[in-house]
Amino acid sequence: MRTESTRAPTDGDPWTTRVHHHVCPWWLGYALVSPLRRLVENPERTLGPHVQPGMRALEVGCGMGFFTLPLARLVGERGRVISLDVQPRMLAALERRARRAVLEERIETRMCGAESLGLAGDDGTIDLAVLIHVLHEMPDAATALGEVRAALAPAGRVLLIEPPGHVSRADFERQIQAAGVGLAVERRLDRRLAVVLRLAA
Ligand SMILES: C[S@@+](CC[C@H](N)C(=O)[O-])C[C@H]1O[C@@H](n2cnc3c(N)ncnc32)[C@H](O)[C@@H]1O
Repeated sequence: MRTESTRAPTDGDPWTTRVHHHVCPWWLGYALVSPLRRLVENPERTLGPHVQPGMRALEVGCGMGFFTLPLARLVGERGRVISLDVQPRMLAALERRARRAVLEERIETRMCGAESLGLAGDDGTIDLAVLIHVLHEMPDAATALGEVRAALAPAGRVLLIEPPGHVSRADFERQIQAAGVGLAVERRLDRRLAVVLRLAA
């Protein structure tokens, strides 16, 4: 099912948390779902330790669903994945791939705006939010992570992974600082730019 965000962009002065953002072109989405990518990035191994059956998961910047379909399998029949993207072509391809994999019942695709994820109706309901290779494309990390934070259930977690080729260590640390508005680092993962966040006390 596809829904669209109607929420207006948030106000404020977010320049301090703004990083370089260049949205991945839709046609590159096909390369990102290539089976060859599994040789360097295994989605089950990346997601598996963070997912329990029955979870309600949120995926921001899903693209054509390299992580979405494995995530939908991991949450199982009783779980749900809400997949957001700013590009309709990414979502259309994900929907086709989900139907082919007979996983469409578990996946809700949503088109969001560049400045807002439109999660107002999801407050406190998300067990796991996944942001993989997307935060550096978003106009403001603090705004995005603030919206994700509001959607998290009390025991919810955020899995944040950024691509070292595109994001420097310094920019990654700045992103994590932006998460400091309500989110705290639970642990850093073995990968170079990867972290699990939880609600701050
Ligand atoms: C590099 S791709 C990664 C896709 C997927 N996470 C993966 O690893 O295969 C980044 C995705 O984030 C989406 N994106 C960029 N800016 C966004 C925003 N402000 N809100 C939601 N999605 C966004 C792009 O359209 C693109 O599909």
